[in-house]
Amino acid sequence: MGRRVLITGGAGFIGSHLADELLRHGYEVRALDLLLPQIHGPEARRPAYLAPEVELIKGDVRNKELVCQALKGVDAVFHLAAMVGVGQSMYEIEKYTSTNNYGTAVLLEALASCGGVERLVVASSMSIYGEGLCRDAAGNLHNPPQRTLEQLQGGAWELRGAKDEVLTPVPTPELKVPSLASIYALSKYDQERMCLIFGSAYRVPVLALRLFNVYGPRQALANPYTGVLAIFAARLLNGKPPTLFEDGRQQRDFVSVYDVAAAGRLALEARQTKDQVFNIGSGRRFTVYEIALSLARVLNRPDIEPEVTGTYRAGDIRHCFADISEASQQLGYQPRIAFEQGVLELAEWL
Ligand code: UD1
Repeated sequence: MGRRVLITGGAGFIGSHLADELLRHGYEVRALDLLLPQIHGPEARRPAYLAPEVELIKGDVRNKELVCQALKGVDAVFHLAAMVGVGQSMYEIEKYTSTNNYGTAVLLEALASCGGVERLVVASSMSIYGEGLCRDAAGNLHNPPQRTLEQLQGGAWELRGAKDEVLTPVPTPELKVPSLASIYALSKYDQERMCLIFGSAYRVPVLALRLFNVYGPRQALANPYTGVLAIFAARLLNGKPPTLFEDGRQQRDFVSVYDVAAAGRLALEARQTKDQVFNIGSGRRFTVYEIALSLARVLNRPDIEPEVTGTYRAGDIRHCFADISEASQQLGYQPRIAFEQGVLELAEWL
């Protein structure tokens, strides 16, 4: 494959790390990015962390003319431009579907009419799974439905099987049936499907990466919809306790943005693969309580105890962590940043 890559959303948290990774491996990188004011400030300036070698085109992925211009001379596209966040996707429905669904549609039309590429990689999300895969006491696998409001209001946090036993979460593979519980999840699923359908019709190899809970330097602390690690870090730095929803025992797969960037490069370089959708996580799981303790330690605030609130966030899932065997076998993906190290890297950047 040629070595000129367009990253949509290339000035953002994940995109800028992917750009660094590609530059280190001899690629030329162009970024198309809106420079959202809530992330980049009201003047929407080029972020200082973006490598100077990156050619930045400021603009919207929904502008077909601009996308055609951005596609000139590129060999591959990594599509990251999207609105992120589950909660607000439920009330900013137009914004989410417009940027994520319509934005992807415009990109694909531009690819069809203004010049093909050798490869397209699209960033999808673990959110499409809904609840992660679970096992009951007899060893049967379950695809649990979303918890009801009544269950949450009654503090029934855990997922239960037919005999009312607590279900044990197991790593979620790509084969799990999607359970779309938010507009965000729907838009991510639509993005990956649109790209895959486009790819088979236009003979463009397409890979979709289902990213789990990505964290690391450059994660926007000021953005209220940022991930839980950044929220907890910001609270600890202000001397406040991390507030844990539910009982704090919900489990997630936190993957360092450096590993995600490495996975992104591998996806661009992969030979045509049988399966085209890959989980990108760390393959490890932590409870929200455990990550609050780790952060307090590395930020030198072990005196601040996390606060278990017993409240809940509507639409939250209980547990989900990745089965990464497909990505490791087919892409050669191996997460390298242990959570303990990744949290230190995040703390150093703060
Ligand atoms: C969700 C999406 C994911 C998306 C990410 C960023 C799902 C299943 N996943 O992840 O695809 O990339 O948002 O938008 O929808 N928590 C607290 N206290 C807080 C904040 C959060 O306890 O102050 C808990 C939440 O209840 C949740 C966990 O921390 O259990 C992780 O939350 P968050 O970082 O927002 O990400 P997800 O909801 O897992």
